[in-house]
Amino acid sequence: MWVCEVAARIPWEVFSRANSRGISPYERLVSAAEADEPLTMKSSADALPGLPSRSDGEGRRSDHTLEFVRQFLPAGPATLVEVGAGAGELSASLTNLGYSVVPVDSDPDAVSIMRSRGLNAVLASWPAYESSPVDAVIFSRSLHHLSIDAAVTHARSILVPAGRIIVEDFAFADVPAMALSWLRALLVRLGERGVWKAPSEGFLANVLAGADPCAPNAEDQHEIASAEAMRECLAAQGRLIHESRVAYFYRYLVPGLSDTPSGHEILDQTLREETGAIATGALWPLGRRWVLRT
Ligand SMILES: C[S@@+](CC[C@H](N)C(=O)[O-])C[C@H]1O[C@@H](n2cnc3c(N)ncnc32)[C@H](O)[C@@H]1O
Repeated sequence: MWVCEVAARIPWEVFSRANSRGISPYERLVSAAEADEPLTMKSSADALPGLPSRSDGEGRRSDHTLEFVRQFLPAGPATLVEVGAGAGELSASLTNLGYSVVPVDSDPDAVSIMRSRGLNAVLASWPAYESSPVDAVIFSRSLHHLSIDAAVTHARSILVPAGRIIVEDFAFADVPAMALSWLRALLVRLGERGVWKAPSEGFLANVLAGADPCAPNAEDQHEIASAEAMRECLAAQGRLIHESRVAYFYRYLVPGLSDTPSGHEILDQTLREETGAIATGALWPLGRRWVLRT
C-alpha cells in the first residue's frame, strides 16, 4: 500500500495523543501573536536597492537555504546562475552578499517580479540558456521540475574548472506515514491556537483532512523527479562533496502564517522543532541537499 494511503488511515486519537504530549514551544509564542508590531524585515535580501520588503512572506523560506548555499561558494564577487529562481529571494540575498548572480526562470511573471526588484533576471527555459563560465549553478527547489539529465549536463557545461552545482530539493515521492502524522499534529496544534490559517486545498489541506496528501491538485500539476533520480544523476556527473537530509515541511506553513514578528518566530520555531525531531530520529527528513564539484 502506498504511504499516503497508510497515512490517511491513521486514527484521529493518534494525532490527539501526539498533541497532548509535553509543552510545545509554540505555547510561548502564541500569546504574543495578537500583540504584533508591524514587521521590520531583517533579511539580507531587503538591503538590495529597489527591493521591496518581503511583504508576501515568501522570503522567510529562503534564509535556511541561503545559509546552506553560502557554505559552498567562494567569496564574492564570484559568478552564479540560479535556475528556476522564482521570485528571486535567494538571488537577491546572494546579490547583496556581493555575488554576481543571474537568476533564470521560464515563467514571465517570475521574471518580471525579479526585474522589478532590481535583479538581472533572464527569461529562459533551462537548459536553453547560454552563458560564459560561472563559478556555481544553483537549483533551489527547481531541479525536480526539470528533465534532470539535460539540466545537470548543461549546468556542468557552463562551470569553470572545479565549479559547483548546488541543489536543494525534496523527496516528496518517499514521504512515510510517520512524517505525515508529525506534520498533521503540528498543523492541528497551530490551527487550534489561531496562529496559522489552513489552506482550503492542496497538500496541507489534504494532510489535515486525512485525505491522500500526495494526490494531484491545482498547485502541483507537474511531474516530479524523485530524490533518488536527482542524486544518481548528480553523482554520475562529478564528485558529490556534500549530501544531507534536512527539514523541509516548515516551508509549507508560510502562506498561512501572519507576516509579523510572531508569524516569523513561529516559522523559525517550526524549523528548529523539525530539525530537532530529525536529529533524534523522531521525524523522517523531507529535504535533500547535494553539492557537486566537477
Ligand atoms: C518551486 S519554484 C522554486 C522557486 C525558488 N527557486 C524557490 O526556491 O523558492 C520552481 C521554479 O522553477 C521554474 N522553472 C520550472 N521549469 C523551468 C525551466 N525549464 N527553466 C527555468 N525555470 C523553470 C518555475 O517557473 C518556478 O519559478
